[in-house]
Amino acid sequence: MSNTLDVLLSHRSYRDYSDQAVSEADLDAIVAAAQRAPSSINAQHTSVVIVRDAVRRARIAEIAGGQPWIAKAPLFICVVMDFAKTNAALQLSGTTQVIHESLEGFAAGAVDAGIVLATMMVAARGLGLGTVPIGGIRRDSQAMIELLELPRLTFPLVGCSIGHFATEPTQKPRLPLDTFRHDEKWHGVPEVATIKAYDEELLRYWKSIGRADGLPWSQNTASPYSKVYYRDTKLVAARQGFVVDK
Ligand SMILES: Cc1cc2nc3c(=O)[nH]c(=O)nc-3n(C[C@H](O)[C@H](O)[C@H](O)COP(=O)(O)O)c2cc1C
Repeated sequence: MSNTLDVLLSHRSYRDYSDQAVSEADLDAIVAAAQRAPSSINAQHTSVVIVRDAVRRARIAEIAGGQPWIAKAPLFICVVMDFAKTNAALQLSGTTQVIHESLEGFAAGAVDAGIVLATMMVAARGLGLGTVPIGGIRRDSQAMIELLELPRLTFPLVGCSIGHFATEPTQKPRLPLDTFRHDEKWHGVPEVATIKAYDEELLRYWKSIGRADGLPWSQNTASPYSKVYYRDTKLVAARQGFVVDK
């Protein structure tokens, strides 16, 4: 698929992969596209760690709470917020880095990691590959840090499984566009009726793909968002130097 809008509008997460390897040329193209992404103040405070080894992918699948597609897809790429890289620049300039101790720094790092993730996904999809983002690595970010041997001032924010898909999933419906698009100024949260209608639409979607355990959107969101679902993030980030007190 080569047209960018076609790639974007046909987005879906792929969780069923064949054993076919991703070629070195495709991997190199995906990584080059991701490195070309914009970054806040050109800080380039992201890095990617590529994991092909099956045993290591199986370990990541386990860290993420048992997600078999991570072990099945031949390629896993971890997007790392990397303030160790910028720290080296500050040391060269004879100053002390403090941005990593602020919410502003975490916001800048997380936004840029998201851009890298999305760029990799679009590049991979353009090459005819399937992808699924994996935030589940933050379920045990300390284990990811140890597995990838990440230094202080870095944090594994998100990952992505990439491979040749075995089956093409149907697209998951979204809330109506006007709950997303606000012209000129913000025009309010969705009406209860809108949420109920989407809940029903999503239930119909789950039924159509044979998922008896699929929940309506309101319940599916309430379950993780009524608590801090990856509880260690704050503690492990602080251990890595992201104190976030500024
Ligand atoms: C940052 C982020 C983290 C995600 N983490 C996971 C994950 O750990 N496992 C998974 O199977 N899907 C994960 N997803 C995929 C979402 O579940 C998926 O995008 C969402 O349900 C919408 O479905 P769609 O992508 O097929 O349209 C993640 C998506 C994003 C953007």
